[in-house]
Amino acid sequence: MAGRLVVITGASRGIGAECARRFAAAGARVVLIARSTQALEVIAQQIRDRGGEAHAIRLDLRDRDAVEHAARALIAEHGPPAVVVSNAGHSIHRTLAQYADRGHDAERLFGVNALGPVALMRVLIPAMQRGGGGSVVAVSSVSAVVPAAGWSVYGASKAAADAWFAAVAQEIAPEVTVSLVRLPLVRTEMIAPTPAYARSAAMRPVDAAGLIARAIVTRRRTYGPWWLSPVAALLALWPTALDRLLASHESRTVRR
Ligand SMILES: NC(=O)c1ccc[n+]([C@@H]2O[C@H](COP(=O)([O-])OP(=O)(O)OC[C@H]3O[C@@H](n4cnc5c(N)ncnc54)[C@H](OP(=O)(O)O)[C@@H]3O)[C@@H](O)[C@H]2O)c1
Repeated sequence: MAGRLVVITGASRGIGAECARRFAAAGARVVLIARSTQALEVIAQQIRDRGGEAHAIRLDLRDRDAVEHAARALIAEHGPPAVVVSNAGHSIHRTLAQYADRGHDAERLFGVNALGPVALMRVLIPAMQRGGGGSVVAVSSVSAVVPAAGWSVYGASKAAADAWFAAVAQEIAPEVTVSLVRLPLVRTEMIAPTPAYARSAAMRPVDAAGLIARAIVTRRRTYGPWWLSPVAALLALWPTALDRLLASHESRTVRR
């Protein structure tokens, strides 16, 4: 990591902020991207106070022109990244009935979780290739693989990004490798609005950052909790297997 340029989206809090601290402590030059200038500056300053190098870029990933412009400016100023952690994300828990007159929610989620990362990586990946290669970690969710009532748009937006990263991975290997890290529940601000998760088992953000770091080292194509592949296989054979289970979990979520 020492001296390497690592770009992390969604670095103003949660998993992205943990990644920023971890990689900077390992000697990386980190570029932190998110919308909240103030929160980004706090993280960047913490890193600088410990002798690290950190730069903050305020960017709304839903603004495609701004994303392309920021990506080009980043390369012009810092050079091509060695590592990109595409981590920024947003989730909304709503059933179809609750979405009925909220079309903008779908646009918001696809903008942050899928279209924004595609716009950013369309500029950064070619620069990484020209710069001699590197690795990309796409921070995804088990929701991209396991459908769950109430998470339709979130799951669909994560699955869309997964499919894009997985196909591009074939085009750019071996110079640039792509790892999809499909996380289970992680105790961050993202899950705070869902009361049912208050008492659920959840990873710590620091452990999620550890998984992301491992993906960079091993360059393995996919990471996920141990149960994800068996559940995905079960669903392929028996698509309704989880309906009852998820429906009962969903009704508990809505009741609380
Ligand atoms: N927490 C979980 O249980 C969980 C589970 C599976 C996967 N994940 C995935 O892990 C990743 C990180 O999530 P987290 O739990 O750390 O969430 P978080 O604490 O809510 O942090 C989300 C980050 O994304 C940034 N972001 C949100 N909208 C943005 C936008 N339009 N443009 C640029 N940046 C934006 C936020 O910064 P600003 O608000 O300052 O822009 C923040 O830095 C996400 O991709 C999420 O889908 C999380």
